[in-house]
Amino acid sequence: MTEQDFAVPLEAPKYYRPDPSYRERSWIGDYQTAYQKFVSDPEAFWKARAAELDWFEPFDEVMQWDFPYARWYLNGKINITYNCLDRHVKNGRANKVALFWRGEEGEEKAYTYSQLLRQVCRLANGLKRIGVKKGDRVCIYMPVIPEQVVAMLACARIGAVHSVVFGGFGVNALNQRIRDSGSRVVITADSSMRRGKAIQLKPIVEEAVVNAPSVETIVVLRRDEPRVELHSEMEVDFEELMENEPHTCEAEVMDAEDPLFLLYTSGTTGAPKGIVHACGGYAVGTQYTTKYVLDVKEDDVYWCTADPGWITGHSYVVYGPLLNGATVFFTESTPDYPDAGIWWKLIRDYGISVFYTAPTAIRMFMRVGEEWPAKYDLSSLRILASVGEPLNPEAFEWFYHHIGGCRCPIVDTWWQTETGMHMITTMVGEPMRPGFAGQPIPGVFADVVDSDGNPVEPGNGGYLVIQQPWPSMLRGVYNNDERYRQYWTTIDSVYTATDLAVKGHDGNIMVIGRADDLIIVAGHNIGTAEVESALVSHEAVAEAAVIGTPDPVKGNQIKAFVILRNGQVGSDRLVSDLRYHVRMTVGPIAMPNEVEFVDSLPKTRSGKIMRRVLRAQELGMDLGDLSTLEE
Ligand code: WT7
Repeated sequence: MTEQDFAVPLEAPKYYRPDPSYRERSWIGDYQTAYQKFVSDPEAFWKARAAELDWFEPFDEVMQWDFPYARWYLNGKINITYNCLDRHVKNGRANKVALFWRGEEGEEKAYTYSQLLRQVCRLANGLKRIGVKKGDRVCIYMPVIPEQVVAMLACARIGAVHSVVFGGFGVNALNQRIRDSGSRVVITADSSMRRGKAIQLKPIVEEAVVNAPSVETIVVLRRDEPRVELHSEMEVDFEELMENEPHTCEAEVMDAEDPLFLLYTSGTTGAPKGIVHACGGYAVGTQYTTKYVLDVKEDDVYWCTADPGWITGHSYVVYGPLLNGATVFFTESTPDYPDAGIWWKLIRDYGISVFYTAPTAIRMFMRVGEEWPAKYDLSSLRILASVGEPLNPEAFEWFYHHIGGCRCPIVDTWWQTETGMHMITTMVGEPMRPGFAGQPIPGVFADVVDSDGNPVEPGNGGYLVIQQPWPSMLRGVYNNDERYRQYWTTIDSVYTATDLAVKGHDGNIMVIGRADDLIIVAGHNIGTAEVESALVSHEAVAEAAVIGTPDPVKGNQIKAFVILRNGQVGSDRLVSDLRYHVRMTVGPIAMPNEVEFVDSLPKTRSGKIMRRVLRAQELGMDLGDLSTLEE
């Protein structure tokens, strides 16, 4: 997408205004007042947010900025799991439910804060016993089950750096992430459930650890009967690892700047980037936004539908809500199994009051019809939230009317893996403008600028940027400092989010989409590079380029253009082979919907594939500036 693709909405803005009681009772209060208070003294603002956590030793300075490297809460000592678990157990929430989980077949589990703390400590002790130490990387490749959360927290307990890989990724994607992170341990499960079928994960791990010499141990949670055999010397049973371990494990004292986790995000070129988040600032940012943006209260039952394997799951299934002592519901079920009413049934059954999901899911439900939610009493809902891609006005309206009963505010949160926490939204209680995410939250300086970094006039489009450091910002790209520096140098001295946006006359920001070649399919961020290299690794393929084409439900779908090797002939059979090959190597989410065989690809003189030309051709758009196109 280029800057010319903007369609600046000209019609008079339409707002939805929540009942004033929402603002009166919200943690944030009046947005303008809160934002001005932040602007008047940003340091005092972030100091006060940090004071909502328990520190082992206080920090001596809020932030030090040595462009483009920020350090937050200098010399402060903290452990995020102490803040997620121990302090709630000590402060009257010991028997409050921390996690409710429901499996696809209706199995239910619940863990109180004190039970969750004990599980985490036992696994933490087990990991120590197999030699995991502070700073070691541990890869977690699991389905959406309580043990996935326990594994993340157990790592954080002992200062090991977790690198969670989404359970839908295939062999290559997993292998690449294990190798880049140098993980010593992989924690996995035998299988994951999807629409009533068990998908085997263990064989994928077995293949992915070949050529990954850092891996010493594979911890396997065995869910299926009869239990799969652990055949290699490296494999250890998850439950046996915990079995005889004590229920307590002192939380490792972490420096605020020690790494907490790595999470890989797709790139447009080259390998996925290991985004590094730090212990102190990440805890402050996720605690703050879960409380003040999602407005989570003591009695809420909170459900964020993301997989903990993505950043949304890290920040808003696991860390943010637990830091706030909330009751979190999560599930392994797919939204349409056994039928399209399952989510609404779960909201009714568990009395969900804060519900956080993605536009792609909303559009899928729009398509199947409002008769599904209409069957269930959804009056427990208090707040709705959205993330992952633009919430288009049609989806906003549907969500507002059919799920929120024309009563619940919709909090459309714009942020990224790199930002760690929400950055732009419409705060609970403020007037909502469909199609517009909103404004920077207190704590964040953001704007829409041109390529020289000058703020655009209201009514115009440009690049979305963050102008000052924030506590939960990425601290680096693992093994790739140059890539980290690019975030801050693409547009002079500000953080470039690589999103295009329009600034409205009312100050609200509409996020349009990526300015680069990332494709967002069903809210999942897919790098063109990963899919293309998977295609090229197939013996029939010489060259490949992939683009996103619009899809009414998923936002985008993937189309691949493929040049075959000499002697190879395109056929339907080959198309399905290639699709399957991508599915196995990168994962089902990256599978192209369409494959077209071509003789050449548009390239720049330096040899870079011009995907925007392919996309423009495909969509019948103006081809734009072709001056760099090779003959
Ligand atoms: C990209 C980040 C962090 C959430 C999950 C995705 C797009 C995210 C919105 C929104 C419009 C959005 C952006 C962003 N995006 N939220 N509310 N409105 N676009 O994390 O995989 O790091 O992707 O998702 O394009 O850059 P991610």
